[in-house]
Amino acid sequence: MQNYTEKVMEHFMHPRNVGEIPDADGVGTVGNPVCGDVMRMYIKIKDNIITEAKFKTFGCGSAIATSSMVTEMVKGKTIEEALKISNRAVAEALGGLPPIKMHCSVLAEQALKKALADYYRKIGKDPSSFEPLDEHSH
Ligand code: FES
Repeated sequence: MQNYTEKVMEHFMHPRNVGEIPDADGVGTVGNPVCGDVMRMYIKIKDNIITEAKFKTFGCGSAIATSSMVTEMVKGKTIEEALKISNRAVAEALGGLPPIKMHCSVLAEQALKKALADYYRKIGKDPSSFEPLDEHSH
């Protein structure tokens, strides 16, 4: 427990943007191959800007804290900016994660990319340059 920063604990205890967006423009679901935890992210996009992001995570405290943080980070960003958000950036925004929990932050980055890929497909663009592979294929 002493390995978690205050910010991680705070986002775990009071996660932001939990829920679903029924009329989302993009939805992405990823499973963590290391532990089996699952995260689903919903985003709304207007004029290339992410206006809303929500998530549901069935996972550990670090997964919940990083989901919460990434939904805060993407709001107001363009798609191109959002695609540059790495799991490390999310972990850093939380003041860091214990090394053994870094894999949890990968879910946040990948769920976001999957949601953006879903949106790309809807508008007829090719997401293959950034879409994460499913966990079974690597
Ligand atoms: Fe599964 Fe953290 S232990 S995402």
